[in-house]
Amino acid sequence: MNEFVLGIETSCDDTAAAVVDSKGNVLSSVVSSQLEIHKAFGGVYPEFAARAHITAILPTIHEALLRANIQASQLKAIGVTRGPGLISSVLVGLNTAVGLGLGWNKPVIGINHLRGHLRSADLEMQRVQYPAMILLVSGGHTFLAYMESTVDIVLLGSTRDDSVGESYDKVGRMLGLGYPGGPAVDKLAVQGKPTIKFPRPLLKNGLEFSFSGLKSSVARYLDSVKELVYEDIAASFVQAVLDVLITKSKLALKEKPVKSFAIVGGVAASPQLREAAAKLCRNLKVDLCLPPLRWSTDNAAMIALATFDYLNLGIYKEPLPELQLSISDF
Ligand code: KG4
Ligand code: ZN
Repeated sequence: MNEFVLGIETSCDDTAAAVVDSKGNVLSSVVSSQLEIHKAFGGVYPEFAARAHITAILPTIHEALLRANIQASQLKAIGVTRGPGLISSVLVGLNTAVGLGLGWNKPVIGINHLRGHLRSADLEMQRVQYPAMILLVSGGHTFLAYMESTVDIVLLGSTRDDSVGESYDKVGRMLGLGYPGGPAVDKLAVQGKPTIKFPRPLLKNGLEFSFSGLKSSVARYLDSVKELVYEDIAASFVQAVLDVLITKSKLALKEKPVKSFAIVGGVAASPQLREAAAKLCRNLKVDLCLPPLRWSTDNAAMIALATFDYLNLGIYKEPLPELQLSISDF
């Protein structure tokens, strides 16, 4: 029997709600963006993010149910991001979900945002074959994970400091490209040449990442060099990021052979990264899964899909509006 889950995601600056069925079909996915609010600050302003979530959350959920043509009574459960994220933002989604769960007498399941990203490549259709390697590159995180199945996840290495998205955004700001910096830096990079030798932190050093040194090195270059060619700076930064991401991915794929390699999270939207990953996977003869861009960036459909993992495992059986906060993240 087909079942439906309402997903709710408010971990950062997007208010999102979605309805997904037990086969992974997305009946609706609504994202209310706060980009215009935060643009002026060059990054997410947490207080304004939380206030905007409060305004948008109920209309967004209402819209998701309407578009899916699903009544609350038909829902199997509500899945909601329980972190990590900006806590004032997370709380808006979490409290709304608990309130709705009480009112509708539906179970509420707290989902780790990263688990949502890890499952995003299987939205709409089963793209990932397991065991799989997943590179998660978002504004908040960067890591490589080995997934034996949809629920057996081993973290192989993550960033010691900045995430790759954060360094994209900071470099974007340094180059006067506004927020978010990722897409703008990529666009500018295409017009330049990677002539500047920025560092490739921890390149030959296991599967951990570090991006803060790269970001600082771009800042120092901007301060110290007189004749600046912004296009070349962007191209050199992107090349350094690609070298690190591709080298580490290659190492991980050689250490642990898999059927699929998926790249998820906002930076997976980078055309340069997509191209480099395609080349790597051709060489290694691994199936590359790049979910459509709408599933790369934050959305609630991935949270709803991850909720089914919990339901299928029978981790949550009782129809009580209670949060499962004791389940470990991975
Ligand atoms: O996954 P996401 O939407 O939110 C988090 O969970 O963090 O990722 C947002 C990040 C931002 O840092 C943004 O600059 C980056 O994804 N991003 C990109 C591109 N599009 C978005 N980075 C590089 N190239 C892009 N085309
Ligand atoms: Zn995210």
